[in-house]
Amino acid sequence: MTEKFSKMQQQFLCCYPVNKMSWSSVKLPMDWDEQKALIAATCGHPLNERYPVRASYQEAFVKRLMQLLKDHEELHDDLFSSLTSQKCEQQDKDFAYKHYLLLQPDAHITLRESISFVNEGTTGLCTWEAALALADYLMQHSDVVKGKNIVELGAGTGLIGILLKLPELGFDAGQILLTDGSASCVQLMRDNVALNFPKTPKEATPQCEQLRWDEVQDFPWQQYAKTDLVLAADVIYDDSQFDALLDALDHLFTSRGNCLEMLLASTVRNVDTLHKFMEQLTNREYKVTPCANVSACVSHFCRDHTAAVQIISIKR
Ligand SMILES: C[S@@+](CC[C@H](N)C(=O)[O-])C[C@H]1O[C@@H](n2cnc3c(N)ncnc32)[C@H](O)[C@@H]1O
Repeated sequence: MTEKFSKMQQQFLCCYPVNKMSWSSVKLPMDWDEQKALIAATCGHPLNERYPVRASYQEAFVKRLMQLLKDHEELHDDLFSSLTSQKCEQQDKDFAYKHYLLLQPDAHITLRESISFVNEGTTGLCTWEAALALADYLMQHSDVVKGKNIVELGAGTGLIGILLKLPELGFDAGQILLTDGSASCVQLMRDNVALNFPKTPKEATPQCEQLRWDEVQDFPWQQYAKTDLVLAADVIYDDSQFDALLDALDHLFTSRGNCLEMLLASTVRNVDTLHKFMEQLTNREYKVTPCANVSACVSHFCRDHTAAVQIISIKR
């Protein structure tokens, strides 16, 4: 029975928009046992009980389910109780959890994230579509990270670094250094790393440090392994930061004698902004190659595949 609801479960746990969920998998009429099983697979899932998703999301989900069922059958008590339980429990009003379930192989990432897009002066306290797209790309192209020491710029909540170190996935990446210019993001990343690797020795987990792009020269690089691969997701949205980001890339590429690759994932919000960044990459003699996006049917993450995300490989 739970398998029947595995897609709904995956969508619920990562707070995929309620109106875009796989409601077609809910076949009516739904008897009490089925209602109970769906609630157990979503609101009653052990991950949600321990680290709850946003109360308002759970409420929207249950209300939508009630709406769907109301003309067909009597509602199970668990539906009502799941409406009230979380409201009483959510103490932290600004943050909640999301759980990214990977169905094959069986693994998950739990992240504490901001419930608003901008919080504490940064956009990095929640996970963006581009990070999910890049994570999907890496799941499909694990050879890109095998044995590589990786630095992520503007890493936000830490999703990608955590993914690459999950033992179930066998990426076999080298050292992972997650960086962000925002101190709040670095603290959140550290909390998220600790949450996902409670028993792993610290040296085998991603490291998290504050790094502003305009301070790349002052960063203590000698304390870390030589970088082979740079990753970044959704960092091309503010052209006032382009020079700092490009100077940071120049520093990283030059210090490695250009034996470096960068994978950059960007949500296409404003074509002109992206185009401007590409032009500046070309002016600095970088070679840009588009990477194929992962199609919806083989995607490991619940994400909006209609939102255009461009992934490029940058070399010099
Ligand atoms: C839209 S968020 C993306 C976060 C994450 N990569 C994701 O896709 O979910 C942009 C991130 O870039 C970081 N950032 C922006 N400007 C920066 C700068 N000048 N130096 C370092 N980090 C910066 C922000 O703090 C934020 O975490």
